[in-house]
Amino acid sequence: MLADRVNRITLSPTLRIGARALQMRSQGIDLVDLTVGEPDFPTPEAVKRACKAALDANFTKYTANDGIPDLKQAIKEKLQRDNGIEYSLDEIIVSPGAKTNLFNVAMAVYGAGDDILIPTPCWVSYPDQVRLAGANPVFVQTREEEGFKLQPKDLAAAITPNTKALILNYPCNPTGAVYSKDELEALAEVCVREQIWVLSDEIYEKLLYDGVPFTSIASLNPKIKKLTVVINGFSKAFSMTGWRLGYAAGPKEIIAACSKIQSHNTSNAVSFVQKAAVAALRDCAMDVERMRQEFERRRNFVIYKLRALPNVSCASPQGAFYAFPNIEAYLDKEFSGAPLRNSYGLAYYLLKEAHVAVIPGDAFAAPENLRRSDCTDS
Ligand SMILES: Cc1ncc(COP(=O)(O)O)c(C=O)c1O
Repeated sequence: MLADRVNRITLSPTLRIGARALQMRSQGIDLVDLTVGEPDFPTPEAVKRACKAALDANFTKYTANDGIPDLKQAIKEKLQRDNGIEYSLDEIIVSPGAKTNLFNVAMAVYGAGDDILIPTPCWVSYPDQVRLAGANPVFVQTREEEGFKLQPKDLAAAITPNTKALILNYPCNPTGAVYSKDELEALAEVCVREQIWVLSDEIYEKLLYDGVPFTSIASLNPKIKKLTVVINGFSKAFSMTGWRLGYAAGPKEIIAACSKIQSHNTSNAVSFVQKAAVAALRDCAMDVERMRQEFERRRNFVIYKLRALPNVSCASPQGAFYAFPNIEAYLDKEFSGAPLRNSYGLAYYLLKEAHVAVIPGDAFAAPENLRRSDCTDS
């Protein structure tokens, strides 16, 4: 009865285990929820003030489909200031969440028969967005011993005449991998040579550790900029997950196509949220830095503890707010008389026995891992 495309996708696995954790909580069970992908800090005061001012000024109507000019201007300045990339306003679109930006680009760029390269472990929504667009996700495995970073030789080997695009995400959810300028240059060289699009999801850009700098692949040279769509948003850096706001910047024709798609779907992002986001970009650097420092402190503690567990290895994430330990040694073993066959089994076991909720690595195409989030101080 349902359209075929629905059968090609699954409900986000992170939501599924989160729902089970919520259910246990509602039964009065005291559990530690390490599944969340949102900062446990309040949204900065300056953002809330700007939102209230917009509401008081009755800024509550439809806006331009691709975003209000003052927010687009603030995004343009941010991309210039923080990333050294020049975009014109018609190369920028604002959408209700970076997820919507990614979805719009998927609809605009991927077509039937196209292969879209996704380095794994990967964020859960990329493969299903590719499938919804009628294209094929092609997974390119990265390795823990290489910091979970896509290697240029593996990228080159995965490219065929059907390859249309590469989805890069750094800092990476779930691994925390961050690429250096040199590493990005090597990947960009392959993409330019093969003329494939790059979707660069930079939503964790502000959450970096160990003094590691951030480079956007689009900033490297004009050739790769022409092939890249940068995705970013407000959820992670400004603790604004519920506000639903993201943006994309890239070649005019792709941004125009995204705008066309958005005009028949959500239309503009929420009007007063767009006003508030201007304050986030212009006035909240200190709030972001305070959150970053706390996440770095938590990361150091968590990695130290995880590495002390017998037979667990854990690469040190250089960004984002997750740890991604390898728990392979605990699979195919019996606990309380029940065999744990895969990372789902281990995650449900931890939930049931220890009242600790984590996300199974299978959800990120990494069956030997678990993802725990640092978005709690418990
Ligand atoms: C890698 C990555 N990209 C995009 C998003 C979506 O962000 P938004 O809340 O702006 O839709 C997330 C959220 O978890 C994410 O982890």
